[in-house]
Amino acid sequence: MSERRVLITGGTGLLGKSLLETAPAGIRFFATHHRLEPPECWRNRFRQLDIRQSARVDSLFSEIKPEVVIHTASIGGVDEAEQDPESVHAVNVGGTQAILRACQGAGATFIFISSNAVFDGTHPPYREDSPLQAVNRYGQIKIEAERLVRLSGVPYLIVRPILMYGWPGKGGRENVVTRWLKSLERREPVEVAEDIVSMPLWVGDCARTIWGGLLERRMGVVHVAGRDRVNLVLFAQEVCRVFGHDEHLIAPVSSQRWVHLAPRPRDTSFETTRMRQVFGVEPVGIREGLTLMRESRASVEVGPAAISGQDL
Ligand SMILES: NC(=O)c1ccc[n+]([C@@H]2O[C@H](COP(=O)([O-])OP(=O)(O)OC[C@H]3O[C@@H](n4cnc5c(N)ncnc54)[C@H](OP(=O)(O)O)[C@@H]3O)[C@@H](O)[C@H]2O)c1
Repeated sequence: MSERRVLITGGTGLLGKSLLETAPAGIRFFATHHRLEPPECWRNRFRQLDIRQSARVDSLFSEIKPEVVIHTASIGGVDEAEQDPESVHAVNVGGTQAILRACQGAGATFIFISSNAVFDGTHPPYREDSPLQAVNRYGQIKIEAERLVRLSGVPYLIVRPILMYGWPGKGGRENVVTRWLKSLERREPVEVAEDIVSMPLWVGDCARTIWGGLLERRMGVVHVAGRDRVNLVLFAQEVCRVFGHDEHLIAPVSSQRWVHLAPRPRDTSFETTRMRQVFGVEPVGIREGLTLMRESRASVEVGPAAISGQDL
């Protein structure tokens, strides 16, 4: 059987990198980067692309001829979306539209990475068909992009991950765990919101769900979350235990502490029956996920944060 040709946008991102590292047999992948340099080992599989440039998107599709596109490229800064919604909209909606149009032309399937931010956090747990209602611009922009995907006529899978953690590539965007670790390593206190609940997701489990969905040709929407439902203080304390830092450095505070930032939903916990029973993925809990992260540290280069922000 011939290999399936898969294009991964955002191959230099946290999720994109994990997808490259876990690509299964039978897949011939290509990936895009934007500002960052691609990893040396996959350089010949990478193409530079700004997804806002639709002519470039079209010529890339002519070259690669993808059968499936996994669209992870986006601007992920929740506060950035609040401060500069037009720029974030241009990438997260405009860029998504350019890729979707190219998929229409190529007859390709589209796997769109959305977010838990499409929910307002007042009525957990959220199912795939729960009503969409965001509390910030970032979530509203994701809802708009999801709507485009649904109306496009392109066969699609919408994947909604929740708070993801893992090692970013060199220069890549930090996540909540890497940000906490930077302070903990300097023995500096870390303020963590005690009133935000999540189901932290080891990025490898998100990649596994996506590859499984692609191979089994799953369509529709799937929620992807880690096994444990915890408040962020418990999560931060577990980070201390697994990485050998002093738990007393974690300072619980109310999320009101960050009123100047974009509002965050309080609890967008997911119902994950579809992920577990249909996609067959049993996600790891926080201790196991953080241990996997600690053990994989030696094999990654962690660069300085390119984009920072506060994960409440
Ligand atoms: N991380 C989370 O906790 C989380 C939670 C829920 C949902 N999600 C969603 O999951 C997806 C992946 O997130 P992530 O954390 O892996 O993202 P990330 O680490 O911030 O990576 C973003 C990727 O998008 C690329 N990119 C940015 N602007 C671009 C442009 N104009 N044209 C082309 N590429 C561009 C970046 O390329 P360069 O780096 O080369 O510039 C990078 O490869 C996103 O849709 C995000 O909304 C993430």
